[in-house]
Amino acid sequence: MTKRVDFTTVGVAQETIDDVVEVLDSGRFVKGPVGERFEDKFAEKTGVEHAVCVSSGTAALLLALRGAGIGPGDQVLVPGHSFFATVSPVLTLGADPVFVDIDPETYTMDPTDLAEKAADAANPEAVIPVHIYGLMADMAAIEAVAEEHDLFVLEDACQAHFAERNGVTAGDAGDAGAFSFYPSKNMTVAGDGGMVTTDDSDLARRMRQLRNHGRDDDGVHRALGLNYRLDETNAAVGVAQLGRVERWNRNRQTAAERYTDALANVSEVTTPTEPADASHVYHLYVIQSPDRDALRDHLESNGIDTGLHYGTALHEHPAVTDQIPSVTLPETEALVDRILSLPMYPEIPEGDVEYVTNTIREFYR
Ligand SMILES: Cc1ncc(COP(=O)(O)O)c(C=O)c1O
Repeated sequence: MTKRVDFTTVGVAQETIDDVVEVLDSGRFVKGPVGERFEDKFAEKTGVEHAVCVSSGTAALLLALRGAGIGPGDQVLVPGHSFFATVSPVLTLGADPVFVDIDPETYTMDPTDLAEKAADAANPEAVIPVHIYGLMADMAAIEAVAEEHDLFVLEDACQAHFAERNGVTAGDAGDAGAFSFYPSKNMTVAGDGGMVTTDDSDLARRMRQLRNHGRDDDGVHRALGLNYRLDETNAAVGVAQLGRVERWNRNRQTAAERYTDALANVSEVTTPTEPADASHVYHLYVIQSPDRDALRDHLESNGIDTGLHYGTALHEHPAVTDQIPSVTLPETEALVDRILSLPMYPEIPEGDVEYVTNTIREFYR
């Protein structure tokens, strides 16, 4: 029988289930104290004043942009390489994405290209650096450009819970940070969920209003909001996961180190770059190979699941090209044909990492 190595989610332990049962017994399923506790703990760990829990990472991005007043006619700078939800809220709000190329070493937004695109843009209002795969973008350089052009900086930290760079935690570098708790993320709520972090009290208030039908505490709807709330049962899981996420991140880092060491002598394979000032939390471990598709088939035939994150650049999805004139981003476009995500989760056995790397070595022998 072939060995199977696949992607798995993080575990939800028995004591977490007890916390969920407590919520169920309380009968308070939304807008309750557990969500507030989750927000307080998340804010404290991130080092920000406010955390606002919401129904998904996509909702987190959407509400942060709406809270910042982004709307029709505004331009929002986004990297070409990310999950679709980095750009879909921009388009949903009627704003125009301006695509920025990536740095070929880190795969995060290239600050030099950002500076050029921001200078050329007619009405740039915001920028969304993405901490792709768990590595924070070069926020110091991005902040400098943002300051020059007075841009609202929204970190897409959906893949980077408690990553750090230059001594700053993801979600504490920009004006706001958006997190996802989708089950495969570094921490989850055992379902969909999200969080926005910010030091701006006014922005936090607007996002709380918008996530709850635009309703203020006096029951009057002064904004047009929808329902983006997080359930109390999910928040209970989130609180418990906060106590584990750092250990899981360390486990991911150990697995990444094993992959990188074992692949060091395979000249055809490029392993992830970890800048000296960064703590990469390896939501994904992504290699580059010029023979990506054949290598993927070889791994698959040896029982190893791999992923493509992401096989199409953001600016090339039909839902985007239908609305935005086509652009060229050379580094992004070169990358998407070469990337391959290897199995990565906190409890991945050392033997599985060895099996995957041996199978890659065998392919190139
Ligand atoms: C970079 C990035 N942005 C946004 C999202 C959207 O998060 P969600 O799936 O929780 O809506 C995700 C995760 O799926 C993501 O990886």
